[in-house]
Amino acid sequence: MAGAGISTPSGIPDFRSPGSGLYSNLEQYDIPYPEAIFELGYFFVNPKPFFMLAKELYPGNYRPNSAHYFLRLLHDKGLLLRLYTQNIDGLERVAGIPPDRLVEAHGTFATATCTVCQRNFPGEDFRGDVMGDRIPRCPVCTGVVKPDIVFFGEQLPQRFLLHLTDFPMADLLFVIGTSLEVEPFASLAGAVRSSVPRVLINRELVGPFAWQQRHNDVAQLGDVVGGVEKLVELLGWNEEMQTLIQKEKEKLDAKDK
Ligand code: OAD
Ligand code: ZN
Repeated sequence: MAGAGISTPSGIPDFRSPGSGLYSNLEQYDIPYPEAIFELGYFFVNPKPFFMLAKELYPGNYRPNSAHYFLRLLHDKGLLLRLYTQNIDGLERVAGIPPDRLVEAHGTFATATCTVCQRNFPGEDFRGDVMGDRIPRCPVCTGVVKPDIVFFGEQLPQRFLLHLTDFPMADLLFVIGTSLEVEPFASLAGAVRSSVPRVLINRELVGPFAWQQRHNDVAQLGDVVGGVEKLVELLGWNEEMQTLIQKEKEKLDAKDK
């Protein structure tokens, strides 16, 4: 299970960290209160703040870091049953984790839906609009097109429910870079069997690690990159990890040219 804390080392602010988190830095977006940026009611009146944020997070602006590549390495080794992420920056995909291994619980910019006729489009179709500060419009009915990001009160994607059965099947759970403040995502930490070790890699204790620790819970407190690197070292995967990161860096460099 992952959250915004795995992407702060890539330069993307999280939501709730005091001072640096997005929710304490919303003056530039000119919204009445922080959560308005993800509220449908507000979006229909004024979609501009959301699209300012979308412009910032649109795929292509940021690169994955060791935390993403650690998860990719788990996948390469056939050890990743599923990655449940709350992140909407798409960096899991950029890191090469295939979409079928991913549950993007709070949605994605990879696709977008017309708020009027409900037609679905590739997110790429609207890159030009978003980057050019234009509100994307449906080519069929001219309704406002909203990237498939889950707003407060909206249903989570089908895939969220489809893969819930992963939790009782898992034999290890990593919880990385999330405050576990948002439901229903947060409760999934309690959905693994009680015999299953849960490993938290985060700046502070969160959710059940703070208030209902199990005897086999482990917490590696501090920076996610440091925590992941320590784990990689203990696993003896250092060299593989470096090779993977170097290879992926070259790929991204070539793409940027
Ligand atoms: P939060 O901002 O709530 O929590 C991020 C967590 O990661 C906090 O516990 C931070 O201390 C920790 N953290 C940040 N950077 C770190 C670093 N470099 N090393 C270690 N720990 C670090 O973000 P989420 O839990 O992802 O919804 O927030 C959940 C949801 O709330 C988001 O998906 C978003 C928001 O409303 C939508 O986008 C729809
Ligand atoms: Zn339409």
